[in-house]
Amino acid sequence: TTGLNAAAKAAGKLYFGSATDNPELSDAPYVSILSDTKQFGIITPGNSMKWDATEPSRGTFSFSGGDQIYNFAKANGQMVRGHTTVWYSQLPSWVTSGNFDNATLISIMQNHVTNVISHYKGGIDNSKGKEILMTIMILDAWDVCNEVFNDDGTWRTSVFYNTIGPSFVPLAFQAARAADPNAKLYINDYNIEGSGAKSTAMYNLVKSLKAQGVPIDGIGIQGHLIVGSVPSTIQANIEQFTSLGVEVAITELDIRMTLPATDALLAQQKKDYQTVISACNAVEKCIGVTIWDYTDKYSWIPNTFSGQGAALPWDANLVKKPAYDGIVAGF
Ligand code: XIL
Repeated sequence: TTGLNAAAKAAGKLYFGSATDNPELSDAPYVSILSDTKQFGIITPGNSMKWDATEPSRGTFSFSGGDQIYNFAKANGQMVRGHTTVWYSQLPSWVTSGNFDNATLISIMQNHVTNVISHYKGGIDNSKGKEILMTIMILDAWDVCNEVFNDDGTWRTSVFYNTIGPSFVPLAFQAARAADPNAKLYINDYNIEGSGAKSTAMYNLVKSLKAQGVPIDGIGIQGHLIVGSVPSTIQANIEQFTSLGVEVAITELDIRMTLPATDALLAQQKKDYQTVISACNAVEKCIGVTIWDYTDKYSWIPNTFSGQGAALPWDANLVKKPAYDGIVAGF
């Protein structure tokens, strides 16, 4: 095959992409695959655009890590998916422990969204035809709000929800649109791959945001899945989301297993990748897929889910696994 991004584009999708993280960019064999646009057309920074990295103290912004990944992608001719401005996790303690009142936290949140998204906006100049397209392509999308729901579909407790209430979501999207009118603005979550309470909550929220004229363009389905447990309703659920008039992207796909990896598990994983990719492929408004890094060498899974791993299409030695062929077969 010619590569995962090449396969996605041949199928009419916008891209196939990978997350990465700053320390990995000094690994030359790793970088030579990551920078190959036949494999990856879009890059997501796994950590360096999060709040703790970008505004470690109030009003002091730091873009060095995010810029490194942004400039890397730009140099390769890849797009970037900004991740993420408003999330309950990886917040600096000045945000979580500040005991701010409603109005103050709203302005802190708006200021954060405005500064971070403005920093990476394309700098569109309508007088320059060709450049417009180029700059739009450089930063494709932002995960404006991440993981706002619990698995039962109720609102997740967070400093934003607790202090501001559910209106933190429309306020964040309005600030994001003002900061970059060209980036696609997404709400992103996990366990919304198949039908269920959490997917219904997401559907209802986006429906009400659209009805209120809130600027939202897409639903990001993270896709942190388990081998043998891909929901059978995944394609129907993606269709249901797109019926709201938003696009869908699979933003953080990985399919983990209990270690050790056996031939049987790797074969099932190949099928599971193919199932997820075919589901996106079959829905016109499912525009692309990003995996949460491409090699088991740098996967977040073993650090978070004890005893599990081998979730990605390249193994820890940068050798392609059966899952790679499953992805190609899915497009
Ligand atoms: C993960 C990173 O990959 C880890 O390096 C970090 O320690 C924790 O966060 N959902 C998300 C991502 O939206 O931001 C998370 O990334 C994985 C789950």
